[in-house]
Amino acid sequence: MNKALRKAVIAGNWKMNNTRPETKALIESLKGKVANAGCDVVLCVPFTNLETAINAAKGSNIKIGAQNVHFAKSGAFTGEISADMLVEMGAEYVVVGHSERRQYFGETDETVNKRSIAAIEAGLTAIICVGEMLEDRENGITDELVAMQTKIALKGIEKDKLQKVIIAYEPVWAIGTGKTATAEQANEVCSVIRKTVAKLYDEAAADALTIQYGGSMNATNAAELLAQEDVDGGLIGGASLKADDFAVIVDAATKG
Ligand code: PGA
Repeated sequence: MNKALRKAVIAGNWKMNNTRPETKALIESLKGKVANAGCDVVLCVPFTNLETAINAAKGSNIKIGAQNVHFAKSGAFTGEISADMLVEMGAEYVVVGHSERRQYFGETDETVNKRSIAAIEAGLTAIICVGEMLEDRENGITDELVAMQTKIALKGIEKDKLQKVIIAYEPVWAIGTGKTATAEQANEVCSVIRKTVAKLYDEAAADALTIQYGGSMNATNAAELLAQEDVDGGLIGGASLKADDFAVIVDAATKG
């Protein structure tokens, strides 16, 4: 396994935050701070902010993504947004299967798989989220559960499409709680994901796959997490809403 073979990607997940003026201001202030990043920099913003974010990020190294996508091409799915709509707007990434979608909006491993396929077929990079609840960890089933989520999410995705896939390991108990997984815990589960991908495809595919850690990653703990062999980046919630903090994490990934 070789960390140098894969791209580090730091992605902000703004969740349901920021108006359009706030979006413009935050990206304007971030641009200069991350201009020399040695990793890919992505911001996943609310649907209503996509156009503003894409315009604000023009000419910079910041790429824009959404936080969800429907699996159908079009049709009677009130309130949903298709992958083609996102692509047409200029989005390049989309978060799929975030634990908040699984917990509050009935997202299942099956729908995560369908949404991932739709995203990839439209040309988006899917940031597919997997991770255990605290109870799962206490029951000692983290590895099995995360391996299963990974397998189902990737069902039907051909090897040559894996370049459009990022897996984000996000222990649910660490999201927005201030409780970060230790660097060892994060690395251990990211390594389980990589081994699962190696079994599903092959070693080369697993070696090339970007696997992020997410869950209370911040300016203070990022360097240690990102230095781990199997942690190739981060999916950042709270700390992505502050330009200075996010820039420190990008910097840590550049060094990591
Ligand atoms: P957090 O969120 O950094 O605020 O814990 C991470 C995420 O939900 O992607």
